[in-house]
Amino acid sequence: MNNDNILEIRHVTKRFPGITALKDASLIIKRGEIHGLCGENGAGKSTLMKILSGVYPYGSYEGEIIYNGNVLKLEGGSIRQARDEGIAIVYQELTLVPDMSVGENVHLGNEPVENGSINWNKLYSETQTTLKQYRLDVDPHAIVKTLGVGKMQMVEIAKALSEKAQILILDEPTSALNESEIEKLMEILKTLKENGVTCIYITHKLKEFFGNTDTVTVLRDGEVVTSQPTENYTMEKLVRYMVGREMKERFPEGHRKPGEIFFEVENLQARDPNEASRMVLKGVDLNLRRGEILGIAGLMGSGRTELAMTIFGELGKVTEGKIILEGKEIAINNSIDAIRNGISLVPEDRKGMGLVSILSILKNLSLPNLEQFSSFMHIDGNAEIKAANKQSVELAIKAPNLQVTVDSLSGGNQQKVVIGKWLMSNPKILIMDDPTRGVDVGAKYEIYKLMNELTEKGVSIIMISSDLEEVFGMSDRILVMCQGCSKGILDIKDASQENVMALATGIA
Ligand SMILES: Nc1ncnc2c1ncn2[C@@H]1O[C@H](COP(=O)(O)OP(=O)(O)OP(=O)(O)O)[C@@H](O)[C@H]1O
Ligand SMILES: [Mg+2]
Repeated sequence: MNNDNILEIRHVTKRFPGITALKDASLIIKRGEIHGLCGENGAGKSTLMKILSGVYPYGSYEGEIIYNGNVLKLEGGSIRQARDEGIAIVYQELTLVPDMSVGENVHLGNEPVENGSINWNKLYSETQTTLKQYRLDVDPHAIVKTLGVGKMQMVEIAKALSEKAQILILDEPTSALNESEIEKLMEILKTLKENGVTCIYITHKLKEFFGNTDTVTVLRDGEVVTSQPTENYTMEKLVRYMVGREMKERFPEGHRKPGEIFFEVENLQARDPNEASRMVLKGVDLNLRRGEILGIAGLMGSGRTELAMTIFGELGKVTEGKIILEGKEIAINNSIDAIRNGISLVPEDRKGMGLVSILSILKNLSLPNLEQFSSFMHIDGNAEIKAANKQSVELAIKAPNLQVTVDSLSGGNQQKVVIGKWLMSNPKILIMDDPTRGVDVGAKYEIYKLMNELTEKGVSIIMISSDLEEVFGMSDRILVMCQGCSKGILDIKDASQENVMALATGIA
């Protein structure tokens, strides 16, 4: 063991029923570095991190991990022991309790107790100290649900860290963050580094590795493909290591010919169901042609997700405005109305709204589509399996079989299941809210190809994305939102980053 190395992962193999998630993986993490980790969905990134944090205990994998010169032997069942050893982890999905304060969340299960009751002053002052030390700009008394995702992520970090933290693992922390929030997070990582904390950083936004990490390791199918100083890579090289082949374009070529306008939204206004005084949509006009992709651009909080949810009947009370489908005004009061009218939504939050984590892939795919497979109250199991199989092959969902529960899938593969279940419903209009979030470059390409195929068959797609490159790469037209209002639709020929941003920020 070299003292410059904080961690040496030696020949680690981890098997799950039907799948070997890590195959003889060896890797060195140097003390004080920011170490990037990438690989396709299901490559084994999260599994390795779960071993380091004790979710999978010593003995449940082959090989060994040397931490500060000693074999790491975590008992598992809780990440408490890892945390006490100085290994902190922030998971792929947020784990905060929304109705509690920042301080309560940071100390959850670890509250300072005196004479049998919680010492609140101490709890808040300790939280404040941690937040300050790492320059995390959050109020310890704020209730978590009132914070944006960027701040929530900071709370997750504060919660994971203890005074003894030596390693901080971040598993896709930026998938829900916007550009400026990502920049802030990078600043935080640098502050941590100054404080002597080593970081392991996982992301599918490959750009983030450059300029922010010291080393990048690529995993593919559970194996370490390469581990090199970041300056040795170019974007192309990194992608090649990840997918194992050359990938020239980010976006597949489409051959669609959009038809007539068949769906319109006029002056749509809606209120927050939980807070009637708050207007979530203040006036949105939109029209959609058959077989086109209408991209929706806008800053975080501009009302994009609210628009999607309102058209799908899942959000606010529509107070004003019309939704017109094929010349007729329709009422959409809930998602059942929406689905009957041929409208489907791939939601932003896959854990909350997209999937039932304890059910199988098969059931998740077929649940909203059972009508297709049933006659006289009887479900045709064969037809159900056949359709689900087809969908899972088309989306290249990585799993031993369709009977496994979706919570055993990697994050990106869960996202594919969400998309698959709505594709199976044969919609006329498919609304996709950040469809490629957390999805690897290869699978992104597959999703784009599917979007092209669907539109070529006449399905119309409304695509929300915070990735402007994606909006430009895939859309026929772009609707720009700003503060709950639509600011106009631009034809892709006339759209530039500048005029979209000008509309999105309200300058234009
Ligand atoms: N608890 C589990 N039970 C069974 N299989 C699992 C379990 N956890 C992970 N796997 C499988 O192990 C493989 C690696 O999964 P892992 O979550 O490590 O991937 P990942 O690289 O983090 O992917 P992503 O980028 O999608 O998050 C996948 O095929 C996954 O389905
Ligand atoms: Mg993962």
